[in-house]
Amino acid sequence: MGKEAVEKELEKRGIPEVLRFLDGSEANTPELWRKRREEIREILLEECYGRLPVQGWEAGWEVVQEDQNAFGGKAVMRLVDVRIRANNRYASWPFRLVLPKNTEKPPVFLYLTFLPLFSDELTEELIDNGYALARVSYQDIASDQADGYSNGPGALFPGNAFDGWGKLAVWAWSMSRIMDCLTQMHEIDCGRIAVVGHSRLGKAALLCGALDERFSMVISNDSGAGGISLFRGKEGENVADLCRNFPYWFCGNLKKYEGGDMELPFDQHFLAALVAPRKLYAASAVDDEWADPRSEFLACAAVTPVYELLGEKGMVYDGFPEARDTLHEGSVGYHLRPGTHYLGRDDWQLFMEYRRRHGV
Ligand code: GCU
Repeated sequence: MGKEAVEKELEKRGIPEVLRFLDGSEANTPELWRKRREEIREILLEECYGRLPVQGWEAGWEVVQEDQNAFGGKAVMRLVDVRIRANNRYASWPFRLVLPKNTEKPPVFLYLTFLPLFSDELTEELIDNGYALARVSYQDIASDQADGYSNGPGALFPGNAFDGWGKLAVWAWSMSRIMDCLTQMHEIDCGRIAVVGHSRLGKAALLCGALDERFSMVISNDSGAGGISLFRGKEGENVADLCRNFPYWFCGNLKKYEGGDMELPFDQHFLAALVAPRKLYAASAVDDEWADPRSEFLACAAVTPVYELLGEKGMVYDGFPEARDTLHEGSVGYHLRPGTHYLGRDDWQLFMEYRRRHGV
């Protein structure tokens, strides 16, 4: 019954079919899905986020500080500088890595944060649970302003006004460069790295993990419009709002769709689908109307057939969620937290619970 209501609502939204090619044929095998995945990725980069560099840079990193006895001796903490050179220009940014001593080869949360401040409480909670934390402050990578390609990795690869990369893509690409470093660190489990962010950084984290298949899990917390919320039929923020307030997060082509949310050649379940068959986790908050929890949940439901095609369970649900519901059974996890737009202790506890359950 409840599931039918969700399916009905999805039908009403009229989102483009994720398993149908542009030429009308069906992607009904895992092999065809790989092709369709490419098609979807192209559409999203061309029309929404812009194109990320795929070659033409040199990368290095250096541990510039190390504390062998952080957190009362429970962890090793490193400050690592990532350095990129391309087109005779340089970009660099720091990230912090905290490695718990209680676990050999710990899984990692790669967390894109708003503030450079380092929260001891969150970090201690994660290391006590056997997780390493790699944490980077987003404006250390590139400014959150409409300043074109004037700083950060954007300045190394300036784009055009159409499909040139927006800031979400810049932050996402830079997180992949941190992933490059992590894969060379033998103390961690590189097969279990989850990328996570909240709100605009939930959009960037989702984009990063969707494109970079090395991440075993992708967590979008309250990512809303341009994140995991479907645009079609969405409450709160829409394409015109994004184009008015944050045009530089996206590529120029998105402006074609101002006021045209129903005509987009994609919807956000396309982005979510790129994560399959890896673990995808979306967290919503009941009173987060601007992001629209219902549209976030619906994208997770809409992507479930892709997981099923690939032999996974997708999101296991039996109707629209209520506050405090957690859907942890399938490869698409979801929870609906009471309260407002926030990434809090309750959310982190549930992320860890899900990861423990699935061993990712
Ligand atoms: C604004 C914006 C949202 C974004 C949020 C945030 O509210 O409209 O799209 O998610 O900022 O990042 O805090």
